[in-house]
Amino acid sequence: MVKNILCIGAGYVGGPTMAVIADRCPDIRVTVVDINEKRIAEWNSDRLPIYEPGLEEVVRRCRGRNLFYSADIPRGIREADVIFVSVNTPTKTFGAGAGKAADLQYLEKTARSIVEYAEGDKIVVEKSTLPVRTAEALSRVLHANAKGLKFQIISNPEFLAEGTAIADLNDPDRVLIGGMETPEGRAALEEIVSVYARWVPRERIITTNLWSSELTKLVSNALLAQRVSSINSISALCERTGANVHEVARAAGRDSRIGAKFLKPGVGFGGSCFKKDILNLVYLCEHYGLPEVAEYWLDVVKMNEFQAARFVGNMVDAMFNTVAGKRVAILGFAFKADTGDTRESPAIDVCRRLLAEHAELAIFDPKALDNAKRDLADAPAGAVKFCASAAEAAEGAHAIALLTDWKEFRELDFEEIYRSMQKPAFLFDGRDLLDHRRLFELGFNVYPIGCGALTHFGEA
Ligand code: NAD
Ligand code: UGA
Repeated sequence: MVKNILCIGAGYVGGPTMAVIADRCPDIRVTVVDINEKRIAEWNSDRLPIYEPGLEEVVRRCRGRNLFYSADIPRGIREADVIFVSVNTPTKTFGAGAGKAADLQYLEKTARSIVEYAEGDKIVVEKSTLPVRTAEALSRVLHANAKGLKFQIISNPEFLAEGTAIADLNDPDRVLIGGMETPEGRAALEEIVSVYARWVPRERIITTNLWSSELTKLVSNALLAQRVSSINSISALCERTGANVHEVARAAGRDSRIGAKFLKPGVGFGGSCFKKDILNLVYLCEHYGLPEVAEYWLDVVKMNEFQAARFVGNMVDAMFNTVAGKRVAILGFAFKADTGDTRESPAIDVCRRLLAEHAELAIFDPKALDNAKRDLADAPAGAVKFCASAAEAAEGAHAIALLTDWKEFRELDFEEIYRSMQKPAFLFDGRDLLDHRRLFELGFNVYPIGCGALTHFGEA
């Protein structure tokens, strides 16, 4: 019976995942540790380090009862019988595989800490997203110990999406648990199954071998991102042909073999994982001598970059071939709604391209302004303003570019916003979130993604 869980890595995954495990398993003591002491202090404060709907309630309910955030890593390791490893695995920026392979230095350091401080056998669970066969290397590092300790390695990738993390954790489509096909491996796997089985129906807990589990995580993200790139590629064709991408997506998605989800066109996918995990997959394919397979998946990332470039290109074309010296209001900077996370947000790319065109930016986001300031810290002096509201950003602007699908943007007073802007006023809806016909009637020239622009210019 699992009594003491430790999670190493108190980030977007470790923090919420462990909070829900603690909530669902009051008899298990759950501790989350991190080398970042500031982050741990924030988890112990009233202002949690990440914004996630419903997270605060769960943390408040469990913290100090059976959920502990701590910077004492040695003690955490000593006391735990199960250790989840949830450290970051970013794309490598140096050396062999730079720009594609996963940087596993944080994982290896974690493994070395476990070896150093462990005083008994443990189950080590890979929660981080990792290249297939990482468990092999992890096992070698863990077993290079002179204490005779034994470690069982389990792969349990996380599928939560930011913004819906708590709902996803409470009611997952599936939980995936992979283990070694040995008696000890199977026993360890059953221990982890028994934790999730407290609240996840047994038929949704999928067990596989280690390598299938590791690879499934990369494949799941690649397939999701591929759908977004597919519909975005079609949005470009729709803009040229008079077809409407929403009608196409709705009609195609009604085929149950295709399905309706992840066919929403936009300015491109962002987030810390889609690009990183596809590049990791590409690297693995190259490593295993499959260049054609690598190229196939790389195109998903290339299409995503094309979509952001195309969006800015459309803006410049529409605004009489120049945005130099023009104020552009950026509504939304987070990579998706309901999060303050801006990692790989398409807004970063769009803003950089606009700055390269010498536009002046006025940015508003309900939750992501602090991160936006960091992401654009190297912008030319005076070229970027960060605003306290959408109305402030739009005041005096030539154009609005909506880049994040925050629902609250639908409720804005666009009549007033239109009045406060330069004319002709342009609105580029990078998420197809707004009521375009109404905005057109208010006077805006409206440029949606994947369907015809609504403009007051008439034919030349
Ligand atoms: P994150 O950067 O938010 O958190 C990782 C944490 O690990 C950081 O706080 C860092 O300080 C800590 N850390 C690094 N090395 C450490 C060490 N040696 N000892 C102790 N702590 C250490 O990352 P994240 O978004 O939580 O992602 C973690 C993993 O989960 C990644 O592999 C990611 O691909 C995967 N994942 C992320 C998401 C998501 O939505 N963000 C979803 C599914 C899977
Ligand atoms: C994604 C996956 O959905 C999770 O299952 C996975 O665990 C996670 O990555 C991870 O490994 O980190 P996340 O990146 O948080 O979750 O958010 P998504 O909802 O998948 O959105 C990703 C990006 O795609 C966002 O920028 C979103 O705006 C965009 N998107 C999504 C579209 O443009 N169109 C869509 O139809 C769906």
